[in-house]
Amino acid sequence: MNFIGANILSVDQFNLDDVNTLFSVAEKMQPYATREKVTKVLDGAILGNIFLESSTRTRVSFGSAFNLLGGHVRETSDVSSSAFVKGESVRDAARILSGYSDVICIRHPKSGSVNEFADFSRVPVINGGDGSNEHPTQALLDLFTIKKELENKNRDLSKLRIAIVGDLLFGRTVHSLCKLLSFYPNISVVLVSPDRLSMPTDIVEYMRSAGLSVCISNNFNEGIKNVDIIYTTRIQEERFETKEQAALYRGKFILNKDIYSKHCAPETVVMHPLPRDSRPEANEIDFDLDSNPNLAIFRQADNGIAVRMAIFAMVLDVVNQIETSSAKVNWHVSR
Ligand code: CP
Repeated sequence: MNFIGANILSVDQFNLDDVNTLFSVAEKMQPYATREKVTKVLDGAILGNIFLESSTRTRVSFGSAFNLLGGHVRETSDVSSSAFVKGESVRDAARILSGYSDVICIRHPKSGSVNEFADFSRVPVINGGDGSNEHPTQALLDLFTIKKELENKNRDLSKLRIAIVGDLLFGRTVHSLCKLLSFYPNISVVLVSPDRLSMPTDIVEYMRSAGLSVCISNNFNEGIKNVDIIYTTRIQEERFETKEQAALYRGKFILNKDIYSKHCAPETVVMHPLPRDSRPEANEIDFDLDSNPNLAIFRQADNGIAVRMAIFAMVLDVVNQIETSSAKVNWHVSR
């Protein structure tokens, strides 16, 4: 695809070459993401960051990525103080806010709303998550992380065995990730969820048609055996009609030090799009795994900066100008 001026709405837009090109740009962004260098390549540009649902990582990392490219960020993150509460339509908001911005990131609780917003926007729109549908940039940073974690173990994606665990019905990150994994036909996937929260059949078929081996299970201890990566997720409480319904599924699949040492291969990498639900009744990844070097969740979140910088640089067509407007940083923070 041609990234210049494009909306980024779904992983369906990409082919493997597109993803590899994006990842090579993300690698070039690493010195900026880790604040070894700064660039002013987007000086004067404005990101409209519109989050109509709660977010920490996606909202702040999109904003930081834009700032690290030298651009400015205008946020709409409190629905109650926006004109949406006066009944303004998505299409009118798109017409208006795209006049104030050079690119827009938007998260919306309703599946398909980001596409509607993009139809009426005058500038490129990036999907920061629409309902339970898709979260394309999260899936890109997840795949980027999977590649890097495997590289650290002198592996690549061939013959990867991955368990994808949790709320696979409502979890938009896993919907997008499963489609991206389908670029690699010799991957084996175990989809582990309560029966009621299983992966939508169209996505299972999508993976199987691409040649992946897909096993569906509701047995956590069995599902996480003999895999290279466990990608676990939170029960998406906000998608259930009542909190009581969500509570029926919380705490079913807790990964902790004891379970990991009993059931997982010693080098199994653990990923999660975050936030992990750390309430005792949920606790899908216990704090007692935080000292395990195979816990990749914080490296994964960090990778969001480089991947999102790459998306902005490609969509706004400044990839080749970044170096010429870069400088060493004046400060030092040890991370
Ligand atoms: N992974 C993710 O989307 O996190 P936030 O909800 O904090 O943005």
